[in-house]
Amino acid sequence: MSIRLLIVAAVMTASAFSYAPSVLADLIAVIGTGRMGAAIGPRFAETGHTVIYGSRDPAQEKVRALVARTGPGTTATTNDDAVEKADIIVFALPFAATEELIKSNQNEFAGKIIFDITNASLKALTPDHPDAVESSAGQIIQEWAPKSFVVKAFNTVGYHIVGDPSHASGPVTVPLVGNSGEAKMKVAGLVQAMGFETTDSGTIENAHVTEGMAHLYFIPLARREFDEAFEYYFRKGTAPTGVTAKQIRGTD
Ligand SMILES: NC(=O)c1ccc[n+]([C@@H]2O[C@H](COP(=O)([O-])OP(=O)(O)OC[C@H]3O[C@@H](n4cnc5c(N)ncnc54)[C@H](OP(=O)(O)O)[C@@H]3O)[C@@H](O)[C@H]2O)c1
Repeated sequence: MSIRLLIVAAVMTASAFSYAPSVLADLIAVIGTGRMGAAIGPRFAETGHTVIYGSRDPAQEKVRALVARTGPGTTATTNDDAVEKADIIVFALPFAATEELIKSNQNEFAGKIIFDITNASLKALTPDHPDAVESSAGQIIQEWAPKSFVVKAFNTVGYHIVGDPSHASGPVTVPLVGNSGEAKMKVAGLVQAMGFETTDSGTIENAHVTEGMAHLYFIPLARREFDEAFEYYFRKGTAPTGVTAKQIRGTD
């Protein structure tokens, strides 16, 4: 057992439901090498972490090029192997593929963070869509991997902005939802290091709220009114000078 796994095992024995951030550098698995995987992997490496990509075919040319672009220490392997090796796992996959991978690796998630960027569709909006759910992708992933610490982040941000936040022409705030305060702090650190602000938006039950932001985007996208890039962002604002929060609430 590696030193990293020993530490995680000791922490899990001490407290089954509390995430303890590791003092070691993070080994982050990015599963899927499409738009989001290829955007987020190099950002993790730039900010000091080691990336292991998971792919259906780790030897394919696009994966080899991504490994080279991500930099020294980066590797690529199968999805199952990447899940097993890493402490933090990002599923940059279609939702149905995420389900299959979690269910076939049930024992690999205990004590690990699932950095959940996924967006499922919504049965109420698209009843016939194969990825449609009734609650939210975040809640369902937490149910599939109950001993993991799911933190939903970045599902509201387009891949091109994850790759380069300056394309958003202003600061972008990333809402985080998850049940473990410690895991959210850990993910907040990763996201902030990439140049984003974060806000704690509550427990994983609120994933339907942040996923709703994506659904707002899917509706015009399906009508071909938007192109494929997200073009609206959650951004912390400033109240007009002289107006207090009490006045806005109408209690002054
Ligand atoms: N695109 C965005 O701007 C954006 C923004 C926020 C959130 N998201 C969410 O991020 C997730 C990934 O989106 P994406 O835009 O990166 O998708 P994508 O460009 O289609 O890439 C998905 C990757 O997943 C792997 N994959 C595809 N089909 C698979 C299957 N049946 N089984 C296993 N692996 C499969 C492939 O990587 P390999 O060839 O290496 O296996 C593929 O490149 C989705 O849940 C999406 O909702 C996307």
